[in-house]
Amino acid sequence: MPSASNSQAPAPTGLQATFYVCHNRTCRRDGSPAVYDALQRILQDLDLRACVDVVPTGCMGNCGCGPVVAVAPVDRRYRYVQPKHALELVQRHCPTACAVSC
Ligand code: FES
Repeated sequence: MPSASNSQAPAPTGLQATFYVCHNRTCRRDGSPAVYDALQRILQDLDLRACVDVVPTGCMGNCGCGPVVAVAPVDRRYRYVQPKHALELVQRHCPTACAVSC
């Protein structure tokens, strides 16, 4: 019979998703740095930095609907993202990683 420490699922490996957070002027005004920080903090807290990347990026053409976050590889884009949405985004796009850590 495995011990308790051996019954845990293995740690996820490989990049599962990349969040691109617009850091251009309009999205910055609307709070994209706080969204970026919230995503980074959640990934750090859940030890998912090896599975999920967060990248500041330029304008994605949705100015005025920000902060805008694009997700790869699924090619999904979210508008009006707030820091409170960060955990939901991670859970939605990184289910394998979250099965272990969330
Ligand atoms: S400034 Fe963010 S989409 Fe244009």
